[in-house]
Amino acid sequence: MSATSRPRPTRSPWAELRNSRIHGRGLYASKAIPAGTRIIEYRGERITKAESDRREERRRARARRGDGGCVYIFEINQRHDLDGSMAWNTARLINHSCEANCESSKIRGRIWIVALRDIAEGEELSFDYGFGLENWREHPCRCGTAKCAGYIVTKTQRWRVRKILTKARVAARKSQAAAS
Ligand SMILES: C[S@@+](CC[C@H](N)C(=O)[O-])C[C@H]1O[C@@H](n2cnc3c(N)ncnc32)[C@H](O)[C@@H]1O
Ligand SMILES: [Zn+2]
Repeated sequence: MSATSRPRPTRSPWAELRNSRIHGRGLYASKAIPAGTRIIEYRGERITKAESDRREERRRARARRGDGGCVYIFEINQRHDLDGSMAWNTARLINHSCEANCESSKIRGRIWIVALRDIAEGEELSFDYGFGLENWREHPCRCGTAKCAGYIVTKTQRWRVRKILTKARVAARKSQAAAS
């Protein structure tokens, strides 16, 4: 490969790129997708957790400066992550939803985005980013679904976020009532 050539963007026969109603650009079903279909592989650079932590710190610093805070790092296992920020990794454009139609699935050491249900042509593809509770306030969710927790947090932890937000709302209402 010459110094100027770049890897070609990964492609899927099932998906196409469009502007997203959730955030920036997203991937959309280019035709009806049956449940269980492997839609596209999430590719990138395999890095250690230590390197991943360094990159995450740099990303957070950029986000604080308002200079792009997108998260592209994917957990592979307890020792390694996958940095999918490269422009040629088309799967990096799939947004998170609290009512996702896809899931990420590890298949023989590779990460695939797989349809969780039948998906109609034109639907935006989404999966649960699987974010834990660390720094959850830094990741507001705009998926717009009825089940949206307001923040990008993995399904099993969303009840905790809802509980904290409800508690804060009740406290704010009480202090408003006391002041009036
Ligand atoms: C891997 S990128 C997804 C592609 C992104 N839409 C783009 O145009 O680059 C991940 C970033 O997209 C944004 N994002 C993804 N899903 C979101 C959602 N449900 N609500 C708000 N922002 C979202 C967040 O900034 C997140 O860090
Ligand atoms: Zn949401």
